[in-house]
Amino acid sequence: MTHASSVPILDRLAALEPGAKAPTIASIFVGASARPAASGATLKVEDPSTGSALANVSRGAAEDVDAAATAARDALSGPWSAITPQARGAMLLDLANTIEAHAELLARLEALDVGKPLSQARGDIGGAATTLRYNAGAADKLEGISVPLGSDFIDFTELEPLGVTAHIMPWNFPLGMAMRSLAPALAAGCTAVLKPAEQTPLTTLALAELALAAGFPPGVVNVVTGFGEEAGAALATHPLIDGVTFTGSVATGRLVGAAAGGMLKPVVLELGGKNPMIIFDDADFDRAVDAALDGAFDNCGQVCSSVSRLLVQDGIRSAFLDRFVERASQLKVAAGLDDADIGPLVSAEQHAKVLGHIKSARTDGATLRLGGGQPAGLDRGYFVEPTVFQDVDPASAIAREETFGPVVTAFPFSTETEALTLANALPYGLVAGVHTSDIDRAMRFARRLAAGSVWINGWFIGGVQAPTGGVKDSGVGRERGIAGIHNYLSIKNIGIQLHPSPSDGRPDD
Ligand code: NAI
Ligand code: MG
Repeated sequence: MTHASSVPILDRLAALEPGAKAPTIASIFVGASARPAASGATLKVEDPSTGSALANVSRGAAEDVDAAATAARDALSGPWSAITPQARGAMLLDLANTIEAHAELLARLEALDVGKPLSQARGDIGGAATTLRYNAGAADKLEGISVPLGSDFIDFTELEPLGVTAHIMPWNFPLGMAMRSLAPALAAGCTAVLKPAEQTPLTTLALAELALAAGFPPGVVNVVTGFGEEAGAALATHPLIDGVTFTGSVATGRLVGAAAGGMLKPVVLELGGKNPMIIFDDADFDRAVDAALDGAFDNCGQVCSSVSRLLVQDGIRSAFLDRFVERASQLKVAAGLDDADIGPLVSAEQHAKVLGHIKSARTDGATLRLGGGQPAGLDRGYFVEPTVFQDVDPASAIAREETFGPVVTAFPFSTETEALTLANALPYGLVAGVHTSDIDRAMRFARRLAAGSVWINGWFIGGVQAPTGGVKDSGVGRERGIAGIHNYLSIKNIGIQLHPSPSDGRPDD
C-alpha cells in the first residue's frame, strides 16, 4: 500500500483473525495519523500458536524515526507545553479510562500477538490503566526545592520535562512495558517516540490512536514499528531524542547504552535476570510452592523477574521438588486465546533458544525431572512444556544464562552462606527471593542479596508504586514509583542575587 488508510487502526486491529489472510497495516504513527514506512517495506507479525502471519506492519527505519522525532519535538514546544500539569494529569486519567473501555480488544490482541493466556493479557491491560492513574496523580506534584544560599540570594529548582524520550520495548508485556515508561514521561511533560518489539507491535499501535482519542495533542505519542537494528538503533542516536528507555536483553542493552552514551543521552536500561528463589526448611511449604510455580511459569517464563533458579535447603529438598514437579505437570499448555495456564513462546527464535538451553542442560549432565520438549499435539506453534531440572552444575550454561522460557533449575544448599554464595554468583542482579519463617534471617538476606528487588515469602511483589530495576548486568536506573518519574525530569537551578541587605538588616523603607 502506498498511502495511509482512512480506516482507524483500532478497527483494523479488531478485525484480525488467526488463520485469516494477514492484512497490511500502515503503522508509522507520526503526529495525528499512521503512514507506511518511507521505504515501503513491511514486516510480518506472527501468531505464535501456529507460526502463521497475523498482519504485516511497516518496517520503519532511520527516515521514519526522523519524522517521528521531529513531530515529537514540534509537539513539545507546541500546544503540549501550554497544558498545565493538572490538565496533563487529567489526560492521563482519560487515557486510562479509554484503555479500560477497550480492554477486551486490547487483551485479545495481546493474547494473539504474544501468545499469552487471555486472563494474563487482561491483567496486563488492567495494569496499564493502573500505571496511568498512578502517574496521573503525580503530574501536578512534581515540586522543586528552595536552596539556602544565605541572605543575599534566593535559589530554587524547577523540574522541567527532559524533552523527547525514546522507548525501545520488549515483546513480553508490550502494552504494560510501554506504559511503564510512557506514563511517567507524559506525566513529566515529555513527548515520546515508541519502538515496540518487531514481534509484538499491535497494542502499541492501538495505544497511539487511543492517546489521540483521549485528547493528547498530535505528536505527543508517536510510534515507529520496525527491527531493532534499523528503527531501534536510529532512535537511540537521533539528535532530537533527549533520553532513551530500553527494556530487553543484556547484549542489546549494552549496544543501546553505548550508542546513547556516545550522544550523551541519559539511559534507563531494564535488562534480564537469572533470579534465585531461596527456600529454607522453615518456610511455609505450600506458600513457597505456589510462589515458585507462579514465578516460574507466568507468561511462559518470559518475564525479566521470573524465578529461574530454585535453591532448596536439604531438609525439604526432595519433598519440595516432588510437589513442585507434580504441580507443574498439571499446568495446561494452549494458544493464548484458549486461555490455559501457559501459552507458546513468542517466536521461532525464542523457541529455538529455549530448546537449545534444554538440550545443553542435558548434555551438561543435569537431571530432567519434567518436560523438556514440545507438548504432544501442539507441534505447529512455539510451545514448550513446563520443564524442571535438578542436579545442575552451577558452572553450566543452564545455571548461568537467562533462558526466558518455562524452564526452572533446582540447586541444593545446606547453610546460609552456601545459599548466598549461589544466589549472588552470577553477573545478573534483578530480583532475588527468600522463603523462611525467621525474620532475622529474612532481613539478613534482604541486605546481602545482590539484586534491585528482594521478595520475602512471595513472588512478583510490588506494583506501579514500587521501584524496580537491576544491579550489576541487570540494568541501569529504576522504573516505577516516584523514582520512575524523575527519569523524565531535568533539574533546573535558578539563582537570584539580591541587592546587599541594609547593614541593620531592617527593611529598606
Ligand atoms: P532484544 O533485547 O534484542 O530486543 C528488545 C528491543 O530492542 C526490541 O524492540 C528490539 O527491536 C530492540 N533492539 C534490538 N537490537 C537493537 C539495537 N541494536 N538498537 C536498538 N534497539 C534494538 O531482545 P530479543 O532479541 O527480542 O530477545 C533476546 C533475549 O532477550 C530473550 O531471550 C531474553 O533473554 C531477553 N529479553 C529480556 C527482556 C526483559 O524483560 N528484560 C524482554 C525481552 C527479551
Ligand atoms: Mg535481539
